[in-house]
Amino acid sequence: MLKIGLLTSGGDCQALNATMRAIVKALATEVGDRLEIYGFENGYRGLIYSQYQKMDPADFSGILTRGGTILGTSRTPFKQLDEPTPDGIKKVPAMIATYRNLKLDCLFMLGGNGSTKTANRLREEGLNVIVLPKTIDNDTWGTDLTFGFTSAVEVATRCIDDIHTTASSHGRVFVIEIMGHRVGWIPLYAGVAGGADVVLIPEIPYKMENVIHSIEQRMELGGRFAIVAVAEGAISQEDAALPKKDYKKKVAERTSPSIVYDIAREIEERCGRETRVAIPGHTQRGGEPDAQDRVFATQCGVEAALACLRGEFGIMIAQRDGKMGTVPLEEVAGKLKYVDPKCDLIREAKALGISFGDE
Ligand code: F6P
Repeated sequence: MLKIGLLTSGGDCQALNATMRAIVKALATEVGDRLEIYGFENGYRGLIYSQYQKMDPADFSGILTRGGTILGTSRTPFKQLDEPTPDGIKKVPAMIATYRNLKLDCLFMLGGNGSTKTANRLREEGLNVIVLPKTIDNDTWGTDLTFGFTSAVEVATRCIDDIHTTASSHGRVFVIEIMGHRVGWIPLYAGVAGGADVVLIPEIPYKMENVIHSIEQRMELGGRFAIVAVAEGAISQEDAALPKKDYKKKVAERTSPSIVYDIAREIEERCGRETRVAIPGHTQRGGEPDAQDRVFATQCGVEAALACLRGEFGIMIAQRDGKMGTVPLEEVAGKLKYVDPKCDLIREAKALGISFGDE
């Protein structure tokens, strides 16, 4: 009998179900009815509280295109892993106990950076863990791609496309907030795909003068409108130079709910152009996975199943230079994959005339 546990952790994305389907299908193809599946509810919480559903391969049928996660998810901050739950349960020992009581052979964890750190901790405690790289942010170290990313880019791009028509009708500037607190992969890709004029990402601190200048230049050349795609975590050069503590204080004291409102106000005041804000927000994590995500999720799920069958644990499934493979968890846990400001796409976007606000 092969006994497996599945859990989805952290922010959801469109391709979680597609990935779990692939894991289960590939395992069932190999071991048939010698497969016992435990689906933990709401992320690590299900493992801590021993809340799970005993599932059949049939439960994973018909979910390839369904966004969200059939298991539910939650955030269990790694920082608080050694703090007991409000009802006094020690999290790590409780997770180990659930795993051992069910006599699991392997735990498949679909999650992003924080969740991977927890998975690595469970590996250190002796559990057989396989991580599958989930996040719309595409910021997981050790893999070129994460599932969820292309679908989120698709939604953000569609938002920029839709805003184009109304911005053009009214001759307005639109500042669009795109997900990405610490990294700018989604705004970068959606900005290029949607033809934004300015793209601001955390990895390239901007100067407001440069943003204003590029918008004015576009207007002087006859542009009726402008689109500014801004990552949630975009930061000015002035703020980037502040000690972390002072910057955090400044953000906490901000009266607007997001930097995009401040940027929009400044553009309107200084360019004399009507400026509006648009925020696609969690729609970027919603809806069904796009075709590329379905393919990549399937690849990840199958590779994870094959790794389990050959007894390879303590790893994350990864794609590097187009090749699927595995990387040791201790190599990836706790590291973020940032956009390299010198990468080809930034160089090409700049050559096209897109401003990143840095020059
Ligand atoms: O990590 C995925 C992500 O969607 C980020 O892009 C975003 O900043 C954050 O999660 C939003 O988190 P929450 O769903 O907790 O509001």
